[in-house]
Amino acid sequence: MSRKILIYGGTGGIGSEIGRLLISRGDEVFLVGRHSNKAADVVSMDRAHFISGDVTSEGVFDKVMEEVGPQLNGLVYAVGSINLGSLRRLGAEDFTRDFELNAMGAALAVKAALTALKKGGEAASIVLFSSVAALHGFPLHASVSMAKGAVSGLTLALAAELAPRIRVNALAPSLTKTPLAEQLLSSAEATEALAAQHPLKRLGLPEDIAHLAVFLLSPEASWISGQIVSADGGRSSLQTGR
Ligand SMILES: NC(=O)c1ccc[n+]([C@@H]2O[C@H](COP(=O)([O-])OP(=O)(O)OC[C@H]3O[C@@H](n4cnc5c(N)ncnc54)[C@H](OP(=O)(O)O)[C@@H]3O)[C@@H](O)[C@H]2O)c1
Repeated sequence: MSRKILIYGGTGGIGSEIGRLLISRGDEVFLVGRHSNKAADVVSMDRAHFISGDVTSEGVFDKVMEEVGPQLNGLVYAVGSINLGSLRRLGAEDFTRDFELNAMGAALAVKAALTALKKGGEAASIVLFSSVAALHGFPLHASVSMAKGAVSGLTLALAAELAPRIRVNALAPSLTKTPLAEQLLSSAEATEALAAQHPLKRLGLPEDIAHLAVFLLSPEASWISGQIVSADGGRSSLQTGR
């Protein structure tokens, strides 16, 4: 049966890959972002609808739901930032911006979609995005770690509040090759050094993360809620000494 899935950040590296996989399974997807040209291939597919919107602008979530319609089976919030800097350099506006984009946006997106998700028939599923940086300490990550830690807390609270009708989980990727990570992967040397810090000796690819999101959205994951699932090449939990 075809399902309707809403993806904020649906034109991004990970969000667009989730869209492609869902469409290949017969689902209908609504992709939200500011620029439709970013993932023109997926935006132009049958069963894909692009909705233009900035998650930091007022009223955007209600406007998106007006375009999606009254019923929804799943929601993904794959908008995020990697704003690195020492505490000395970070200002209140950095913390506020990262919190708004990563955490508050996720909460407001879910709030606006609740009625539609409850009409989705079988239990609906929500997938949010935390990060390895909320599980493991890295220097220069104060703002993004704080924002992603909030997403992990939000995931647990909403999973409890919305059970059993709606499942809520989050993914916690490590560095994944998408436009978001480009600033950190500016040279072959930097890319190699960052890959080597992972016990599985490579960086993530969008499909590594997208397959997990598609599973969490599926009925096969119907007994899984309130989980922060790591997809990080072992970065958060393994010390191999190599
Ligand atoms: N890539 C990594 O290394 C990594 C690591 C840990 C966690 N994550 C998390 O994984 C999720 C997906 O990241 P990604 O790597 O796929 O990032 P990405 O390629 O940069 O995609 C981000 C998406 O969010 C949209 N977006 C950004 N700002 C927006 C705004 N103000 N309003 C509406 N849409 C906005 C972008 O489209 P427009 O610019 O057109 O709006 C794009 O569709 C994020 O939550 C990220 O924090 C990623």
